[in-house]
Amino acid sequence: MLSYRHGFHAGNFADVLKHCLISLVITALKQKDKPFVYIDTHAGAGKYSFKSELAQRTGEYQQGIGRVWDNPQPPTEMKDYLAAIRAENTGRQLVRYPGSPQLVRRLIRTQDRMQLSELHSTDFEALQQLFAQDKQVGIARENGLEMLEKKLPPIQKRGFILIDPSYEMKADYNQVVQTLKSAHKHFATGIYGLWYPVIDRQITERMLLQLETSGIPRQLRIEHCVTADGAMRGMTGSGMLFINPPWQLASQAENLLPWLNRILTNNQGHWKVEWQVPESVAERTERN
Ligand SMILES: C[S@@+](CC[C@H](N)C(=O)[O-])C[C@H]1O[C@@H](n2cnc3c(N)ncnc32)[C@H](O)[C@@H]1O
Repeated sequence: MLSYRHGFHAGNFADVLKHCLISLVITALKQKDKPFVYIDTHAGAGKYSFKSELAQRTGEYQQGIGRVWDNPQPPTEMKDYLAAIRAENTGRQLVRYPGSPQLVRRLIRTQDRMQLSELHSTDFEALQQLFAQDKQVGIARENGLEMLEKKLPPIQKRGFILIDPSYEMKADYNQVVQTLKSAHKHFATGIYGLWYPVIDRQITERMLLQLETSGIPRQLRIEHCVTADGAMRGMTGSGMLFINPPWQLASQAENLLPWLNRILTNNQGHWKVEWQVPESVAERTERN
């Protein structure tokens, strides 16, 4: 039984980082004309209203996108992400927020495709309504990790796979590692982005270590914590682990994170951009 609803958390500090990084990956993929596919294994409702009961109950977005969206001098790394948010909000007030599916839909071209999975009945219906008649978007109400196995390798041979579970169950931490190992075997050149929360630091590090020692090359870790580990109940930070990120993503993140840390935490948080596995052993030997 799934109880997690992203509507409670949409636009919070973790979404700002995740969605901004997603927009940078999609923009990098568009540098070549060749089509690509975006696969979102845990899609959520697609887009959200800050007037909804869920958003009103937590008000989390106020400490996230609420602090960012009308800043007069955002870094260039936020350009496409903020443009997508402005496109959702035609008035002066911030009332709507694009989740990962709607954000990416605003960024892709006619030759590109999207494949989304969502298990929760209400969010699945919202997703279906949002993309009804949209021939570029495929939607399935099925386990996103199982869907991924069936979709790889993609016919386009280029793709970005977002794995963004709610981690409601502890087993999720292990399952995403197994899925990434298997997915990488079938589609070694794909770009993968795994979102992770920092709630219990040990659990997070254990999962990341499993990936680090998996033999998969080119793993870039980008993380932002709004406060010290364990300083409050719940999530103190979040990050994304990328496999095969576009070459410019690490330097873009190094520009973005200090700004985000200042705007979201008054420099009280901490961040890292780190290659946890830089490249394959073969490539390293070849270069030396
Ligand atoms: C963190 S939210 C996704 C947020 C979305 N990717 C975004 O950035 O806007 C996780 C979603 O995964 C759904 N979910 C949980 N387990 C799933 C599974 N095995 N397959 C597909 N969806 C799942 C939940 O219902 C929830 O809507």
